[in-house]
Amino acid sequence: MSEPSPPTRVRPKRPEPKPGILDITPYKPGKSKAEGFARPIKLSANENILGSSDKARAAYVAAAERMNVYPDGRADALRQAVADHFRLEPERLVFGDGTDEVLHLLNQAFLELGDNIVMGQYGFGAYSIGARASQGEVRMAPEPDYRLSVEALLKLVDERTRLVFVTQPGNPTGTFLTREDLNALHQGLPPDVVLVIDAAYAEFADDPRFDEGLDLARSAQNVVVTHTFSKIYGLAALRVGWAYCPAHIADAVDRIRPPFNTSIAAQDAAIAALADEDFKRRSFELVVRWRAWLQQQLGGLGLDVVPSQANFVLVGFPQAPGRTAAEAEAFLARKGLIVRGVANYGLPDHLRITIGLEEHNRALVVALSEFLGG
Ligand SMILES: Cc1ncc(COP(=O)(O)O)c(C=O)c1O
Repeated sequence: MSEPSPPTRVRPKRPEPKPGILDITPYKPGKSKAEGFARPIKLSANENILGSSDKARAAYVAAAERMNVYPDGRADALRQAVADHFRLEPERLVFGDGTDEVLHLLNQAFLELGDNIVMGQYGFGAYSIGARASQGEVRMAPEPDYRLSVEALLKLVDERTRLVFVTQPGNPTGTFLTREDLNALHQGLPPDVVLVIDAAYAEFADDPRFDEGLDLARSAQNVVVTHTFSKIYGLAALRVGWAYCPAHIADAVDRIRPPFNTSIAAQDAAIAALADEDFKRRSFELVVRWRAWLQQQLGGLGLDVVPSQANFVLVGFPQAPGRTAAEAEAFLARKGLIVRGVANYGLPDHLRITIGLEEHNRALVVALSEFLGG
């Protein structure tokens, strides 16, 4: 019997990416410049406003002695440190060049043409970019009141769904699924669908109903929890994220992981950051204290504040000319305060504002009260 011949292809005049790639809207990072300000107050990227741990910095500097050698591709020391810290099985961890890479790898490992992912309508852009790059269809469930709905997510799942992504708490919404909702979502999914719980901001949550999903991931065969060193650990520049996976998923993802995807400096700094409980506690306390204050103050100005469990708040502005979110963003920039417009998330009437230091938060409220009063 002869082999079936491969489909023919008309040669284009220049190299063309595969279908769908040029339909992807590129990820747009938060602004970091405000005209006329050498050091503007950057509240646009949900970074750690306290900087990073001194111990992590020392580890990073010390790593300069080993710039000529390749890192440990398995990140064994970091693997053990994360496993000990979070009480996880080391072999089930996958490390990435930021969570971004881990999310891409999950999409790559599971999707082929015709498959789909399900996520919330305001879900993080990396899920959909990664899925489209792997030729997957992206299905977005409505988020009434800026919250994920288990029912709406499950409604979109069909036999070609391979991954469901939830952000816990959400970016840019700051809202979360309760432990009961998370369990209900998991129970409603067929066993071959991977539930990815992105816990990038989980360390900032203080609501007793919040659950980052690690207990579920410890026992279920189809739950992955991702975490990052970019937020509470203050290492966004170094790019370290990880996923806790069922063993067979860790095995699959590790096969396509670039072999040296986390650097020596990043691994060492992450180990030191993990051990610096004091820095982590101060970061948490700062966010919890000023998040409550900011929500109350901005609500007092008549703005529509979405209750947040993350290190930022999503704030709705009136549609009236002179008071819109876009005008507020420009007004704040003229005062040296950079916040994040989220029109690209489908939220043109909102701004996302990272919780700052006391003086930042106070300056922001003064500026917004001037903006709204003017
Ligand atoms: C929801 C969410 N997930 C993941 C990430 C990516 O984190 P990392 O810096 O580890 O790539 C971010 C970064 O902003 C995020 O907001």
